[in-house]
Amino acid sequence: MSGTTKLRIALAKGRLQDQAAERFARAGIAPAGDAGRKLLVPSSDPRIEFLSVKPGDVPVYVESGAADLGVTGTDVLRESNADVLEPLELGFGFCRLVVASPAAASYPALPGGITARVATKYPRLARAHFASAGRPVEIIHVGGSVEVAPLLGLAHWIVDLVDTGHTLKANGLLERETILDCGAVLVANRASQKLKLDLHLELMARLEA
Ligand code: PRP
Repeated sequence: MSGTTKLRIALAKGRLQDQAAERFARAGIAPAGDAGRKLLVPSSDPRIEFLSVKPGDVPVYVESGAADLGVTGTDVLRESNADVLEPLELGFGFCRLVVASPAAASYPALPGGITARVATKYPRLARAHFASAGRPVEIIHVGGSVEVAPLLGLAHWIVDLVDTGHTLKANGLLERETILDCGAVLVANRASQKLKLDLHLELMARLEA
């Protein structure tokens, strides 16, 4: 699938979108014209096009070769376990994946020694974290608004991203443990990097400049 002539770069919508677009613009590569609601967008460089996808989908697009390169967070990347290259840390989108629980509750022991339920968008990373510490938990996979789960009794704890900490604070939660420090990275399809090496190298040099 990576045999397309153009270099296709998957960009995640949401948290990293603006900074990623800015970084490419500084490298002289911007969407050509008004993208509107188009998901596959030509760029100012005729050899390069952008693909706009959900953050969690960037690793699979790049691993499969549907996109040659992508910009994603290491949180999403590690959760996906995708087999891609990581040629460049981009130096933005810093945050951390943490365990948090209600400020008023005891941690980590729960009353009566019951097993904690943990709500998260990152079930693989959360499961691995608690398993490596030998702490049994029940993982509840949710798609977003994770911070509300303890308030509603869905879970005792959450595993989620923290940037400013405002969302945790606004929902009465305290950060208890860091699982992973995260940031934006450029990821590349293995075959594409071999087949289009010159263009990959040129792009990275322009992004680093
Ligand atoms: C992330 C994360 C938290 C929030 C943390 O959500 O899941 O909810 O940001 O940021 P803060 O510490 O600065 O308050 P995001 O906006 O990426 O999207 P989501 O709604 O899909 O979780």
